[in-house]
Amino acid sequence: MGRDVIVACDFSSAEATFSFLDKFSGLEKKPFVKIGMELYYAEGPDIVREIKRRGHKIFLDLKLHDIPNTVKKAMAVLSRLDADIVNLHAAGTTAMMKAALEGLTREDGTRPLLIAVTQLTSTDQESMERDLLIEKPIDEVVMHYAVTAKNAGLDGVVCSPLEARKVHDACGAGFLTVTPGIRFAEGEKGDQKRVMTPADAKAIGSDYIVVGRPITAAADPVAAYERCLREFTD
Ligand code: C5P
Repeated sequence: MGRDVIVACDFSSAEATFSFLDKFSGLEKKPFVKIGMELYYAEGPDIVREIKRRGHKIFLDLKLHDIPNTVKKAMAVLSRLDADIVNLHAAGTTAMMKAALEGLTREDGTRPLLIAVTQLTSTDQESMERDLLIEKPIDEVVMHYAVTAKNAGLDGVVCSPLEARKVHDACGAGFLTVTPGIRFAEGEKGDQKRVMTPADAKAIGSDYIVVGRPITAAADPVAAYERCLREFTD
């Protein structure tokens, strides 16, 4: 899979999701779709099967974090759903990440891509020190998690586009950076604090951008998606 735009389908029902995706039915290239916890917990695995059946690739953003055996078994279930990318928390440790890879790998040796969440962007230096007793600089912690994920055999990380270059420098060009926090130059930032345009994310080396509201809340979502694709992939 090459560089691509992933549309975050942050809807709470199948109905809302399909009425959104129907707008793209005329496109030859069906958008790569991200399904998060809200939609998955509302609609269950059928939502993944149906979106796949319609020809979309899927990033299933469920951020698993549990003991290795439980994550291994859960990943085996997600692998059978034929998601293209799944994820977990690097904080679950190397043992959990390796178990996840084992669970994901099908009998024929194929598997979805597996990427790690490092420190959530909602965690700042203060809350990390106070609540997690981690006293290193947060940038160092993020890079350490990325390198640990790489060493465990994972395919990449979710990170800010501002971190993409550092992650590639530390983990290699082939280690995927999947980056949310994307806005058009003239767009509303909403609750995102550190944002980048699709063109700048391309220049800095992001492999995939995850774009939600700039597409889902646009007056013309298809035009907004095509603009993202043009800026990021052309
Ligand atoms: O609407 P917006 O473009 O801000 O959506 C970005 C998507 O990426 C959302 O689904 C959000 O949960 C997700 N995300 C994020 N920042 C992270 C991790 C995930 O915005 N650090």
